[in-house]
Amino acid sequence: MKGVVLVSFFVVAVSAHSLLEQDGIKFQSFKLEHGKTYQNPAEETARFAIFRDNLRSIERHNARYEQGLETYTQGINKFADMTHAEFKAMLKLQYRGKPAMKSTKNFELPKEATVPDSIDWREKNAVTEIKNQGFCGACWAFAVTGTTEGAYAIKTGNLTSLSEQQLIDCALEMNIGCQGGQLEENFPYIEEYGLESEADYPFEGTDGTCRYDSTKVVTYVSSYVAFNGSEDKLKEAVGTAGPVAVGIDADYIQLYESGIFSDSDCNPKALDHAVLVVGYGTENGTDYWLIKNSWGASWGESGYFRFLRGVNQCGIQADNTYPII
Ligand SMILES: *[C@@H]1O[C@H](CO)[C@@H](O)[C@H](O)[C@H]1NC(C)=O
Ligand SMILES: *[C@@H]1O[C@H](CO)[C@@H](O)[C@H](O)[C@H]1NC(C)=O
Ligand SMILES: *[C@@H]1O[C@H](CO)[C@@H](O)[C@H](O)[C@H]1NC(C)=O
Repeated sequence: MKGVVLVSFFVVAVSAHSLLEQDGIKFQSFKLEHGKTYQNPAEETARFAIFRDNLRSIERHNARYEQGLETYTQGINKFADMTHAEFKAMLKLQYRGKPAMKSTKNFELPKEATVPDSIDWREKNAVTEIKNQGFCGACWAFAVTGTTEGAYAIKTGNLTSLSEQQLIDCALEMNIGCQGGQLEENFPYIEEYGLESEADYPFEGTDGTCRYDSTKVVTYVSSYVAFNGSEDKLKEAVGTAGPVAVGIDADYIQLYESGIFSDSDCNPKALDHAVLVVGYGTENGTDYWLIKNSWGASWGESGYFRFLRGVNQCGIQADNTYPII
């Protein structure tokens, strides 16, 4: 320990020492902003070291962005004290084999439909507020409620936040709650039991006992559409039907801050996170998907992010689904 202190005292240049101080100030405000507390000084020291690594990586990335070599910026967010491996381990969309698929349909564009060049379902009262899954690995439940909220709002004009906790506690044939879950495999459950509102069955962030009350069901689904392999189809579905739940490889969006994410390191076949495509468009000539995440409003573009469209970015076309109400 003494050796470490001596090194920083005598060898490290003045500028580096003040960099350490600057990083320390950033770490303090990061902890405050995200309510971070650590078990002991050793953990605090370890987290600070990881935070500093992430800071350097953010600086390098944003310097490349300034040179036009990256399409999006990175920044400090609540995951800035986690290693890449820790972040990856948190992503819990799983594919565990399917129960009887009662009423799945492939997507077909209705004959009379026209697909708009851009759409944002937030402007059409079909997207609820940004939610926060915390450290519960139930991304799948948020994507499923999100697409069901959209379908229900478009059908009835009533935008009501629906319950992830009900799926986490009750839909155990398909999922393992906060430990992970699947996507379209949940619709047979919702077809049979329906979904209660967020208000009646609020999110708790941990696995609980099922407290399903059939008298409080807001909506059932009658069937669902599941498709894959084509971003053109995804565009047609989002453009004409509503928000669509998708699986992606989210390994590289840990420090995403703003812009149109693009990274060829993603594995389009290793989907590990479920999110909700709520629109698409073009900015400065670049086509993008507009995507709702479930990591709170402080992450990304006020809880949303954008993916480069047309390159199957991180597997966005590999697993697409929405319910019919
Ligand atoms: C929308 O649906 C919810 C849940 O069923 C209900 O409580 C609310 O009154 C409805 N709002 C309107 C405006 O109909
Ligand atoms: C894509 O859809 C086809 C046909 O429905 C299915 O056989 C295949 O397993 C799906 N692929 C993935 C990754 O879900
Ligand atoms: C588009 O250009 C504007 C003006 O230069 C810039 O502020 C914005 O960040 C650009 N958008 C993207 C996605 O690069």
